Amino acid sequence: MSAPRRHLLITGGAGFVGTNLASRLVQDGRRVLVLDNLARPGVERNLRWLKANSGARLSTQIADVRDRAALREAVRGAEAVFHLAAQVAVTTSLEAPLADFAVNLQATVMLLEELRRLRRPVPLLYTSTNKVYGALPDVPLARIGDRWESEDRRLREHGISERQPLDFSTPYGCSKGGADQYVLDYARHFGLPTIVFRMSCIYGPHQHGTEDQGWVAHFLLRALAGEPVTVYGDGAQVRDVLHVTDLVDAMLRTHEDAERLAGTPFNVGGGPRNTLSLLELLRKIEELEGEAPEVGFAKERAGDQRWYVSDTSRLNRATGWKPVTDVREGVESLHDWLVGSRPRALAARAR
Ligand SMILES: NC(=O)c1ccc[n+]([C@@H]2O[C@H](COP(=O)([O-])OP(=O)(O)OC[C@H]3O[C@@H](n4cnc5c(N)ncnc54)[C@H](O)[C@@H]3O)[C@@H](O)[C@H]2O)c1
Repeated sequence: MSAPRRHLLITGGAGFVGTNLASRLVQDGRRVLVLDNLARPGVERNLRWLKANSGARLSTQIADVRDRAALREAVRGAEAVFHLAAQVAVTTSLEAPLADFAVNLQATVMLLEELRRLRRPVPLLYTSTNKVYGALPDVPLARIGDRWESEDRRLREHGISERQPLDFSTPYGCSKGGADQYVLDYARHFGLPTIVFRMSCIYGPHQHGTEDQGWVAHFLLRALAGEPVTVYGDGAQVRDVLHVTDLVDAMLRTHEDAERLAGTPFNVGGGPRNTLSLLELLRKIEELEGEAPEVGFAKERAGDQRWYVSDTSRLNRATGWKPVTDVREGVESLHDWLVGSRPRALAARAR
């Protein structure tokens, strides 16, 4: 389909984050073009839902970000770009590093080049990852009950800031981290208003969590299906988790102010007030479902951080943004949403 005039382009727009962002933009009266090759199992359902709920303001382009001609067509007439399309799993990147590189890094540079050709520079927001900081081996940790905690009081209270040295690890970390740096450099050297979000764990509706990515939704889906869960490592790994509605809010705030914020990386997550270990999520599921899912333990995964919590104060100072969804309420609302869409969600997993 040809791109509508004056649209907001979302690459990977049929994915979990993309669907929530597209839906919000359409509700706000914006025209949205979703470009996606539907590589992720389950996302075709997101696209059907988006189409059914968006009317004429939504256009779709089923295409691969590695296809330069498709990128050229998509950016023509774009007012802004949210670049979300990616190979998203560390595990897959270890099995197929070249494919991971082509989708995550090479295609991002091609997209930046297509934006550079436009007469008027348009903002680009790139969804990077906390993995750019590596496994954080220098952060002193102590095991307290069901979780790892930082022994450094400042880190415990504030989290990891953008001053943390980059330390790419695993092909996924390298490809996303490389793209993160290119995106920032195109602001520095070519004057493009680009912004990078280094995101911790995001959760919420329309997430097709699997064992490889999206653990909050994955654990809930497994529990609802009465299936066992495999925990890699000791399960005490801690992440700050952010509900997707809060993420979308942060995206809109920065996008509206992209000229001023150009060239800035922001750590984005639920912060120290919204942290969760895998074992704590399992306990929460037990509370919600009345029984705990069966759990098996396996070897810790390559590059896994035992503790990661985002310091979001730079984003707060720049835009006034703060996460508003409390982790407990957020997990409960995702549980309710999955229960509501259970027959469809479970049937899709069975396929
Ligand atoms: N969800 C998280 O917790 C999280 C955390 C950190 C970073 N991120 C990043 O945020 C972005 C969105 O993540 P998500 O959770 O929505 O993932 P997702 O897998 O749900 O969405 C990604 C979308 O990209 C599409 N896609 C994959 N390869 C493509 C290609 N070659 N061409 C076109 N489309 C392609 C997929 O079909 C999918 O719809 C990704 O860049 C991811 O790396 C996500």
